[in-house]
Amino acid sequence: MRLALEVARAVRAAVGENMPVLARISATDWVEGGWTVEDSVVLAGELAGAGVDLVDASSGGASPAASIPVGPGYQVPLAARIRRDAGVLTGAVGLIVEPEQAEEIIAAGEADLVLLGRELLRDPYWPRRAAAKLGAEPGWPAQYIRAV
Ligand SMILES: Cc1cc2nc3c(=O)[nH]c(=O)nc-3n(C[C@H](O)[C@H](O)[C@H](O)COP(=O)(O)O)c2cc1C
Repeated sequence: MRLALEVARAVRAAVGENMPVLARISATDWVEGGWTVEDSVVLAGELAGAGVDLVDASSGGASPAASIPVGPGYQVPLAARIRRDAGVLTGAVGLIVEPEQAEEIIAAGEADLVLLGRELLRDPYWPRRAAAKLGAEPGWPAQYIRAV
């Protein structure tokens, strides 16, 4: 934990006060006797004190003994727990692939931010599609205007 806090302080010092600092953690090892979400609640509070604005709750394949309940949104409860118990902003990640699913996570107060990994590799325009599906009008980056 000490190293994580040192890194957080160093990053905050390097970027100054006007840049958001996010920390991704493996919020549980999914192993008896390993790192737990309770440990992550403590870590998240310490990270916030070290200058981190938001904790992104992933989870790990650090142990071959891990039994990971992989399924849609399987890591969302980790973000929700840390958000509730540590009182820090959290990001949810892990098999979030539908716009409505992402919207519900935010609306339910389970996380402050939704992050996508593999789905964005499959469909880099997902944010535009999702915004349109949810009734928003997605804009284009200025660099794209000549193309659209
Ligand atoms: C092959 C693979 C290995 C991963 N290993 C770890 C890990 O060791 N620790 C961790 O916190 N997350 C790990 N992740 C989870 C990712 O950090 C991220 O949460 C995951 O890709 C879920 O987002 P996605 O379903 O949108 O891709 C791994 C994901 C994949 C696909």
